[in-house]
Amino acid sequence: MSILRSQVVGCGSYLPARIVTNAELAARVDTSDEWIVQRTGIRQRHVAADDEPTSIVGLKAAQAAITDAGIDPTEIDLIIVATATPDHTFPATATQIQAALGITGGAAFDVQAVCSGFVFALATADKFLTTGGARAALVIGAETFSRILDWEDRATCVLFGDGAGAVVLKAAPGEGTLADRGILTTHIRSDGRYKDKLYVDGGAGSTKTVGFLRMEGKEVFRHAVTNLAETVRHTFEQTGLSGADIDWFVPHQANRRIIDATADKLGISHDHVVVTVDRHGNTSAASIPLALAEAHADGRIKQGQLVLIEAMGGGFTWGSALIRW
Ligand code: UT7
Repeated sequence: MSILRSQVVGCGSYLPARIVTNAELAARVDTSDEWIVQRTGIRQRHVAADDEPTSIVGLKAAQAAITDAGIDPTEIDLIIVATATPDHTFPATATQIQAALGITGGAAFDVQAVCSGFVFALATADKFLTTGGARAALVIGAETFSRILDWEDRATCVLFGDGAGAVVLKAAPGEGTLADRGILTTHIRSDGRYKDKLYVDGGAGSTKTVGFLRMEGKEVFRHAVTNLAETVRHTFEQTGLSGADIDWFVPHQANRRIIDATADKLGISHDHVVVTVDRHGNTSAASIPLALAEAHADGRIKQGQLVLIEAMGGGFTWGSALIRW
């Protein structure tokens, strides 16, 4: 049966130049390189300059992805930006990136699912591309979490970083089998009962302030491993695949211990896992496309391979996608 698939035709990323090491943070709050590395695996993170809002960080990743794809930007008729740190309450950061790319056709909008945002955005783009609603989509995860961190709170300020990653997707014919190139499955979930475990304590519609990130880390950790394993099990049930079939597992990069525990639960060996958390920290919606871009650029992820992504974030939200690269 001939169907449409969303194929990844380009991938790119951008990291702000400034690197903040654990030692630098230890000089500001009561923490240590040893604690941060042991509990999270993070050694450093990138922080955007004052004149680098999320739209600029996202634009640079988008330009890299478009160059990698080798297409004219005007071919793109759908732009979705996953971000929890938009430049403004409105308009959407996606429209700013659209304008900067010189694109005036199609639609551009933001998706808000915090750390799961890239998976939600990818799932949304896939629906448009596979139903004929768009022909070429740019899906961007872009964040400047440094701006919503309470730099006095050692329990959160050591965890996050800034950056962006992007993919270009094109609708292309497939046979409807797992051998097709493109997005093969997506699963997204949310459960708003857990709002207080991970949230920002301000907003345009409530406090009229931006607010700071607050998190009950242990609780989030506990739910993360369970929810991530659940969403991937749905993928395995739907496809008949197992952890041994996955060429590259590219999880949301929040904590090395969560990544390892999830890979173990799913039977995925650690040498098939792409890890960037040590150098990027948790970049929320940007973490998966940043990791995809790195492993794509250095030749680990090759065309035709099976790539599994998953994420969990505030809300709670969580989800996964299986892609044949
Ligand atoms: O991307 C969205 C999803 N987010 C996540 O997935 C994050 C999930 N959670 C985590 O990654 C971990 O829970 C953390 C890394 C945030 C914390 O690790 P933990 O092993 O759960 O530590 P904890 O929160 O239970 O804290 C243990 C101790 C506490 O001290 P006491 O009460 O035992 O005396 C904390 O006050 O570590 C203390 N602590 C710190 N010590 C040094 C907390 N933060 C720090 C710090 N430096 N930065």
